[in-house]
Amino acid sequence: MERSIITDYINSNKERMLNELLDLLRIPSVSADTKYKDDVLRTADSIKNRLIEAGAENVEICQTKGYPVVYGEKIIDKNKPTVIVYGHYDVQPADPLNLWHSPPFEPVIKKTETHPDGAIFARGACDDKGQMYMHVKAFEIMMRTNTLPCNVKFMIEGEEEVGSANLGPWIIANKAKLRGDVILISDTSLIANDTPSIDTGLRGLAYMEVEVVGANRDLHSGVYGGAVANPINVLCKIIASCHDENKHITIPNFYDDVLELSAAQRKEMEKAPFDLENYKKDLAIDDVYGEAGYSTIERSGIRPTLDVNGIWGGYTGEGAKTVLPSKATAKISCRLVPNQSSEVITKKVLDYFHSIAPAGVTVKAAEHHGGEPYMTPIDSIEFKAAAKAVETCFGKEPIPVRGGGSIPICALFEKELGLKIVFLGFGLDSDNLHSPNEKYNLENYYKGIETIPYFHHFFAEMKQ
Ligand code: BES
Ligand code: MN
Ligand code: MN
Repeated sequence: MERSIITDYINSNKERMLNELLDLLRIPSVSADTKYKDDVLRTADSIKNRLIEAGAENVEICQTKGYPVVYGEKIIDKNKPTVIVYGHYDVQPADPLNLWHSPPFEPVIKKTETHPDGAIFARGACDDKGQMYMHVKAFEIMMRTNTLPCNVKFMIEGEEEVGSANLGPWIIANKAKLRGDVILISDTSLIANDTPSIDTGLRGLAYMEVEVVGANRDLHSGVYGGAVANPINVLCKIIASCHDENKHITIPNFYDDVLELSAAQRKEMEKAPFDLENYKKDLAIDDVYGEAGYSTIERSGIRPTLDVNGIWGGYTGEGAKTVLPSKATAKISCRLVPNQSSEVITKKVLDYFHSIAPAGVTVKAAEHHGGEPYMTPIDSIEFKAAAKAVETCFGKEPIPVRGGGSIPICALFEKELGLKIVFLGFGLDSDNLHSPNEKYNLENYYKGIETIPYFHHFFAEMKQ
């Protein structure tokens, strides 16, 4: 494939490709907050129109029990391989708003010290509107320049950030429509633009909410304090007991199913460049913190975790109020590694909580969304095609790395559709995903658009 066909097309359509993304970023498609329902639906409509403009056929908004899936396809030849592109049009909530330098849904381009070409600052710029839209533009290029080498199907959903609970049933009900050869996802990160990498696996997630309830009402902490259980004290003690002094998780049998890496595999992982001093400096911390016996990269990639995401109860207003709260609540999640199951881990965590709660309180638990870990085999043609595409456009062979985040639907794709998944991500860890001032470098946006057609090209070639 002639490289200049693609780069010329990008160069003469740069502005428009950017402005279209900025328009998408202006719609606050926050799936977690029902206040944005109309905006989330409007985003789905907008993607539908963009897919049609780019040349997709049979484009439809597919209803689910939650937000819809936008589907579109281009079948050039039934005997050719089919790439299924998955992405999400929903975004995380933008708060805390006061920490944004510009409003989250009014995208601006700002130059930064490390990225003189500029970056788009907006919620969803990288996760995942920017990365998802690269696929729509890459598809447009292949259509307009007559270089589409295979069939393409798009499946863009609106509930990834809330666990994709309604996507599974939709996939199961639409297996025939989703026949294909590989699932391609751009929703992960690179180590750096001059050190390209590909995530070979993502962690799973078990998410729960735990409420500790004491007396039937808030109590005067002088009249009752010392004599009645304080649910906040109890909840803190339970949570603190989940890790030992080596930061191993103490919940019985928590690690039972973990597939340990061999010494050789761990050595291989060490080859990825990692600068601990820069890592600490970037986060303004004087030291890292994690499980003894594992490096920072291992702790965030191949080890399971347990973290509190939020905790509340009692009096949090101004000044002091002396009160024994009647209840305390925490949101707790575990990241899971291959062979662990979200259902099994949720049960182990909740059983533990129930077992160590003292008399005088009751523990109530609710389960939130979960997702299973996923691994792409690096000797597969799926992975090889991605590696070759990255090498072609970045001039360097990508380093296989393990990603710490989760895309909850991945394991189900494999189970129900029998397909492997390739994570062709172009974000950076410094893009502030889920944080204030999320950004996506223009360079990465255009580089992604340039790389994607090569994936299709090499995959079609290797698969035939
Ligand atoms: N795109 C991320 C996942 C990700 C980010 C993977 C960076 C690897 C590197 C995705 O949108 C995400 O945030 N997933 C959630 C899943 C959850 C809300 C069910 C996550 O990982 O917390
Ligand atoms: Mn994402
Ligand atoms: Mn996300």
